[in-house]
Amino acid sequence: MRIGLAAAVAVLASFSVQAQGWETLRKDGIHDPRGPGVKELQEPGAALSKLTPDNAGNMVRWVQALEKSEINPRASIRPDTKIRVYDSDVLLNLKGGMPIVRFPHRQHTQWLDCANCHDHLFKAEAGANQFSMLAILEGEQCGVCHGAVAFPLTECFRCHSVARPGNVLRPTLPIAIPPGAVPPR
Ligand code: HEC
Ligand code: HEC
Ligand code: HEC
Repeated sequence: MRIGLAAAVAVLASFSVQAQGWETLRKDGIHDPRGPGVKELQEPGAALSKLTPDNAGNMVRWVQALEKSEINPRASIRPDTKIRVYDSDVLLNLKGGMPIVRFPHRQHTQWLDCANCHDHLFKAEAGANQFSMLAILEGEQCGVCHGAVAFPLTECFRCHSVARPGNVLRPTLPIAIPPGAVPPR
């Protein structure tokens, strides 16, 4: 299914895209403001303001925070868990007017296991999946995480990051096709 740029923007405008700053635990609607825990826990603003900032989502550029060792999360709870990092970029074919989508495996597998995506979300074969921006905006495919637990869908050029020849819309950052990328089909 194809979706126009205007339609994508219209769908996004209907989401409440806000964020600026962090809500205190008392006001976040998750913690009980009368409970003893809110006095013990660290406020999100105190913890997150020290990390590489983002201007969207929960205001942290998580991939960079990890790469710069600002955070050092434990890779597993059990010592026998196999950690698999896969360094392979897939360029997803786009016949439309947006820049090409680069899906980076390395960054994803630093946070996730293969089984978080394969095969219930995506078949592990370049070109085997039918992607659609509309489905993504509806919370499927990449939208299962992006806009929920990973950077929001308003950040178009973080996914549409590889300029295509003759493209009118260009990403704001100069991004080259990474070595070893699976070329668009
Ligand atoms: C999380 C990654 C991601 C984000 C963020 C994202 N897209 Fe997409 N987009 C995709 C994927 C994947 C496809 C489907 C590729 C294909 O058609 O094979 C797609 C396809 C599209 C298409 C249809 C193909 C084309 O080039 O015309 C449009 C239009 C589009 N996106 C617009 C947007 C706009 C506008 C935004 C920001 C408001 C956005 N996208 C944000 C991943 C993303
Ligand atoms: C966040 C989701 C996600 C995770 C996690 C993930 N993949 Fe993928 N994988 C994809 C997507 C999307 C494609 C592209 C499929 C297409 O082109 O239709 C893909 C394609 C592939 C491919 C074929 C293209 C290539 O790059 O070789 C292989 C092999 C693969 N994945 C293996 C893995 C392995 C091994 C892991 C774990 C170490 C893993 N993937 C983790 C989403 C993911
Ligand atoms: C299972 C969850 C999940 C799915 C599905 C998923 N992502 Fe992600 N993605 C993440 C997480 C977690 C991060 C790292 C945190 C962040 O950047 O917000 C990330 C980061 C990224 C980044 C940023 C890499 C960087 O260097 O900053 C890109 C680009 C991206 N995803 C594209 C995609 C595209 C395109 C798809 C669909 C083909 C997709 N993702 C599907 C979870 C997911």
